[in-house]
This record gives sequence, C-alpha cells and structure tokens, in this order.
Amino acid sequence: MAKKGRVFSGIRPTGRAHLGNYLGAFKNYVALQEDYECVYCIVDLHALTTVEDTLNLKQNTYDLALDLLAVGIRPEETILFVQSHVPQVTELHILLSMVTPLGKLTELPTFKEMVRHNPNNVNYGLVGYPVLMSADILLYKTDLVPVGIDQAPHLEFARETVRSFNYRYNTNVLIEPQMKAAEVQKVLGIDGKEKMGKSLNNHIELAATPEETRQRVMMMVTDPQRMKRTDPGNPDVCNVFTLHKVFTPKEDVEMINVECRRAGIGCVDCKKRFAESLNKTLEPFRAKRAEIAAQPDLVPAVLADGADRARAIAEKTMQEVREAVQLP
Ligand code: TRP
Repeated sequence: MAKKGRVFSGIRPTGRAHLGNYLGAFKNYVALQEDYECVYCIVDLHALTTVEDTLNLKQNTYDLALDLLAVGIRPEETILFVQSHVPQVTELHILLSMVTPLGKLTELPTFKEMVRHNPNNVNYGLVGYPVLMSADILLYKTDLVPVGIDQAPHLEFARETVRSFNYRYNTNVLIEPQMKAAEVQKVLGIDGKEKMGKSLNNHIELAATPEETRQRVMMMVTDPQRMKRTDPGNPDVCNVFTLHKVFTPKEDVEMINVECRRAGIGCVDCKKRFAESLNKTLEPFRAKRAEIAAQPDLVPAVLADGADRARAIAEKTMQEVREAVQLP
C-alpha cells in the first residue's frame, strides 16, 4: 500500500513509560503506522545533555524499546532505532550548526527553561539541542513530526534551519517538516495538578502490576471541592473522570458522570472502577511486554536491524548534503 509520506519522532529514554507518554505520544505513534512510513528514534545523545538522564542510559533505552514494542510499534514496517547507532546525525548536526545563529538558540523558550532547571550544567550540547533535533528530522527527509505542543519552537527552528541551509548552499536537499501536535496536550499526574512525569513522581507506569496500579490510582486527587462522600462532585474538574473518558466504556462513563453530580457514587468507588478499566486496558500490553522480555535477544536484534535500515537512508541524505556543501 502506498504510504502518505514519512513520519519521524524522537523519544528521550527516561525510564519506563507512563500513562502520560502513552496518551500524549505512543498512541499516536502506533496509529500513524497505518498511513505513514514511520521512523522512531530513541534519542540517547539528547539524554546526555542532562545529567540525571545519563545514569541509566542503557537500561532506560532497553525499557523504552520494550514499552514501544509492547504498545504496538511494528518493527517489520517501522524503523525503531537508537540515535547514536547512526553517527551520520552528528555529522549533519555540525553542518547545520554553521547556518545557525547562536542568538537564536539562546533565545528559545525551551533553552531558557532548561537553564532554569539546570543552572549548573549549561553545556554546549544543551545549547545545540535543537540543532541535533533538526538533524534527526532532516536526515530522514521527514514529512511529519508527531510531538507535544511544547516542541513547537523546536519544529519551527528546524524549518528555519532548512531554509537557511538550502539558501546558503543553493540547494533543495533538505525538506521542511510539518508538525503534528498530539491531541492530548497534557495528561495530569496523580496530584491532579501538574503534568504527569517521572520527575514529580506523580505518574502511573504502564508496566506496573495490577496491584501497584490500583494503589497509585487510589492516591489520585479528584474534585478538590468535594470534601465529603455526601457532597455532590463535579466531574468536569476531576482528573480521574478525564481519564475514565479514555479508558472506561461509554455507558459506565455516563453513569459515573450522572451519579457523581448527585453524590450517588463516591470518589473511592469511582477510583476503584478506574483502576479496573485501566488494568483491563493494559492487560494485553503487559502480556506482550512479558513475552518480549522473556526473549533477551529480541530487543537488541530489533534495534540493530532498525539502525541498519536508518543508516541506509541517513547515508544517502548525507551524500547529497556533502555534495551540496561541496566538502572536498
Ligand atoms: N526534544 C524531543 C522531546 O523532548 C525529543 C526529540 C529529539 C525529538 N529529537 C527529535 C522529537 C526529533 C521529534 C523529532 O520530546
């Protein structure tokens, strides 16, 4: 079947995936496989820009690959690989850096945010983060990049880099990618306030056991205005209800909606039901994950094959790029 074009996305290896990763990204990655040729990259080099992510890089890379395969990434069609296994990206990175004004990098809101978080580790690699990300995308002549809305400045940067590069070297080898923003912008954590993430420990891991999942769900903050079981609740401001809408069958969601508003159902009961829906949804994922994990050679083999296929595309682009730059 003819595909509509090529999709590329990079995912930072920060450990086991959680509900936020799933709803905000993975679900989309899986769906895009139907219509696009997909290339998904575990960006280990990007992880090196922040110290806390460098500590368990090997394990985190393995866990992420395992989660992606279990969630439905199909390595027979889709290219799944590790960034550093295709060194052409570092070569493109340095060539792109020559058409990148330094001020543009330091002005990016994402960079300023990083500096605020890591004031003691503002390294050269961190400044160049968007250049490396552009190299990722452009190396594969990508049409579409599925990312969270927080990455919009990086995508715009990549597009500008294409224009600068093509203009400077009077070429059209690089292609401007389009962004595809995730439908779910922000999944809140169990605190019901902040974005779900590992660093705030407000996340629910996909690969947790059903019992661990239940315990995490029971810690979730519901409608903060609802004090007593007999108070009517407001599902519109309740994070548990928001997630029910994703994981629970429609009739049950409607029942909860009605009963919560008239104090027919309490938060404890509502959360128990949510834990059940969630565990039920995740059951096939967990089974598949265990099956893959039981074959220790499988993930490394998938990643090696992915790197071979990625390298073939990357090297072809680089031959054109070197030619355009007229490297001797
Ligand atoms: N910066 C992205 C993030 O933090 C990760 C990333 C690296 C990426 N390279 C990419 C995303 C290329 C899309 C395309 O989520």
